[in-house]
Amino acid sequence: MSASIPTSPPARKRVLSGVRPTGPQHLGNLVGALRNWIRLQDIYDCHYTIVGWHALSSEYMNSKVIRANTLEVALDWLSVGLDPKKAVLFLQSEVKEHAELHLLLSMIVPLPWLERVPTFKEMQQEIQDKDLNTYGFLGYPVLQAADIVIYKADFVPVGEDQTAHLELTREIVRRFNRIFGDILPEPETLLTEVPRLAGTDGRKMSKSFGNAIYIKDEPEVIRRKILPMVTDTRRVRRTDPGEPNDCPVFTLHKAFVPKDAQDEVARGCRTAGIGCLDCKKVVLDHLLLELAPIQEKRNALEARPQDVWDILEAGSAQARRVARATMDEVRAALGF
Ligand code: TRP
Ligand code: SF4
Repeated sequence: MSASIPTSPPARKRVLSGVRPTGPQHLGNLVGALRNWIRLQDIYDCHYTIVGWHALSSEYMNSKVIRANTLEVALDWLSVGLDPKKAVLFLQSEVKEHAELHLLLSMIVPLPWLERVPTFKEMQQEIQDKDLNTYGFLGYPVLQAADIVIYKADFVPVGEDQTAHLELTREIVRRFNRIFGDILPEPETLLTEVPRLAGTDGRKMSKSFGNAIYIKDEPEVIRRKILPMVTDTRRVRRTDPGEPNDCPVFTLHKAFVPKDAQDEVARGCRTAGIGCLDCKKVVLDHLLLELAPIQEKRNALEARPQDVWDILEAGSAQARRVARATMDEVRAALGF
């Protein structure tokens, strides 16, 4: 009868994504990435990493903040529902094989490929208070490629801003395979299509704009950030109708308010039936409701940071096993 028993189940496809530890995660990170990552951990063999070395490429003058920021990110991850029983949560800097693969890849990456990555020149121009004209910063996408291919990831869920890095990863993989033989799979981008969340000033929510609402922000802090937010400029007076699709506040509704309540608010806005303050209170209520259990869990975890480090260490040990197996193949292919 054993002949009818299937052998092992088909291996799940592997997902890898990462985030730089620049500080606590904001609502844009929650809506744009984390919600999707939580969904994916039930479907795929997910590996999520906090990439301290990528943070170092811009924070090398301030390297001591990276450890504290790593803990902040991990606290956010665990409290929103990334689950170490379902996904491998780990630290890039605890899996030294990433550095080895980065070095080996760097030998075959033509300089012009890196110089034309849009983020390279953009970041250098945008960020004036740091010298980003370094070898490490130029090699940022090579390190990212190493993060991905060392796990032979099938899918990389990222936002649109990362598509150039992913395309470069695939180019590096093709060149590697042409030179050393077919070893590394080309990863596919899993584009996370989510409407942009506006920050408190109406621009895209971003830590660097100083307009972010953080997952860990206390209710009172969130209230003080949302209530004065800019709205559709057509609503000068309470009696002026507005257009929700032109309103930064309504981007929060789209992310946190159930559809029926959203529609009701939209109607009220277009008919001047409700005021902006009423409207903001609706989104505040739903947002605070969603964040309450997350923050409760976060506070409990924050009191036991060693447990968080232990989770990351266990995840890093698991990741290391996969990374080592790939590196054995890579070294053999190079003839070392
Ligand atoms: N560059 C990515 C970002 O800034 C972070 C990152 C590093 C990453 N390594 C990765 C993302 C590997 C996906 C896969 O968001
Ligand atoms: Fe924006 Fe709401 Fe005011 Fe309309 S009512 S302009 S959606 S804050």
